[in-house]
Amino acid sequence: MAKQLSLDIALLQDYVTESDLENLQAKVSAVRESLLNKTCAGSDYTGWIDLPWSVESQLPVIKEIAAEIGDRADHLISIGIGGSYLGARSAIDFLADPLLGNDRVVYFGHHIGSDYTASLLNFVQQKNVYVNVISKSGTTMEPALGFHLIREALAKKYSRDELRTRIIATTDKASGVLRGITDAEGYRSFIIEDDIGGRFSVLSPSGLLPIAVAGYDIEALLAGARDMAHICKSEAAVLASDALTYAAARYLLFQKGKQVEILASFEPSAHSIAEWWKQLFGESEGKERTGIYPASANLTTDLHSLGQFMQEGSRCLFETFFTITAARARVPIHAIDDDADQLNFLADQSVEFVNQQAYSATSYAHYEGDLPNMTIRLAKRDEYTLGQLFYFFEFAVAISGLLLGVNPFDQPGVEAYKQNMFALLGKPGYEERRAALAKKIKGE
Ligand code: PA5
Repeated sequence: MAKQLSLDIALLQDYVTESDLENLQAKVSAVRESLLNKTCAGSDYTGWIDLPWSVESQLPVIKEIAAEIGDRADHLISIGIGGSYLGARSAIDFLADPLLGNDRVVYFGHHIGSDYTASLLNFVQQKNVYVNVISKSGTTMEPALGFHLIREALAKKYSRDELRTRIIATTDKASGVLRGITDAEGYRSFIIEDDIGGRFSVLSPSGLLPIAVAGYDIEALLAGARDMAHICKSEAAVLASDALTYAAARYLLFQKGKQVEILASFEPSAHSIAEWWKQLFGESEGKERTGIYPASANLTTDLHSLGQFMQEGSRCLFETFFTITAARARVPIHAIDDDADQLNFLADQSVEFVNQQAYSATSYAHYEGDLPNMTIRLAKRDEYTLGQLFYFFEFAVAISGLLLGVNPFDQPGVEAYKQNMFALLGKPGYEERRAALAKKIKGE
């Protein structure tokens, strides 16, 4: 097993010391045991703990369907939102060419933007596509509407039999409107198990099918996750486990008034990882009027926009840097004869070296500006390493949420906007709420 991830907490030193972390050992051990024994709050949703193993029996079918899509279509339209979207997207964006991306998978149902929708519906008319509609509940408005529209569009170009081949659903085994449509139409489907919550589902068929269609090695991804799971499950000492150290450090920073965490990366390919991480931590911890607000920054780009605030604004922030030790490509910098741009002092260095120095410069500047920071270092940008990262964050957020005293596996607050939206849109059964909202909107 090659550990591809490490955590450096040296620049937390004025806020969190090793002895502070050791002093939290008993509390961390108690929540860790409750998680692993499945006696913690929300324990019905801890199927993700063993997912890197339990999903293995589904790999042959996932790979077979991914190969079929590769042979028969140019694009997979992946319909889903939140946990049914962010995992696959984060993996594909992380592994893809950072400039060109990966257009094998095209996303839909992750918002309700009208112009995007029009463009997507036009796109599917022109292209040879398969569809993977992913919704655990099978009732979420954004993907449900997306699927409604795309079925109508595709029915103009494919027969019902052909659609039966081209549409694959990933949903609950028994409940929800999507399950009903899937069974009635005879679509092929994957099941999201009852004990896997959306934001913990990247290593289930929700994430694995689109990732495989995009051409990435899902076996290596799962091998990385299994190796990190082994570390997380076997190491109980806070200081010996990166996931426990990260969770405990966050808890102590929050106790000291640090209410916002910025996940700051120097790698553009990590942008969507931060989006996935924001959902994982935001939905898991932000409840009962507590929790650390998860934010993100793309560096060095955002040093020229958010950098001023990070250096000198309100001190409610802490920062977690995310770096990749070995870039895939070395881009050398050469001297030029007249040194007109005065950059010859960089001669014989590389772009990667400049980026690494930018990280060091920033972490020390922020530390000196009273912005405590830690760093998650990934050895490289590949599937195995990403599997370790996914599991590391899932385990850490479970510990972190339990330390805060919340159920990390539910998301009751997400319902509020949905109820209002259904009422305003006139969904049957929401008449009373619609009347109450209408009064509020009129200012009565
Ligand atoms: O983490 C979660 O459970 C949520 O964010 C869901 O993933 C999101 O709301 C989408 O739900 P569904 O897959 O039921 O359409």
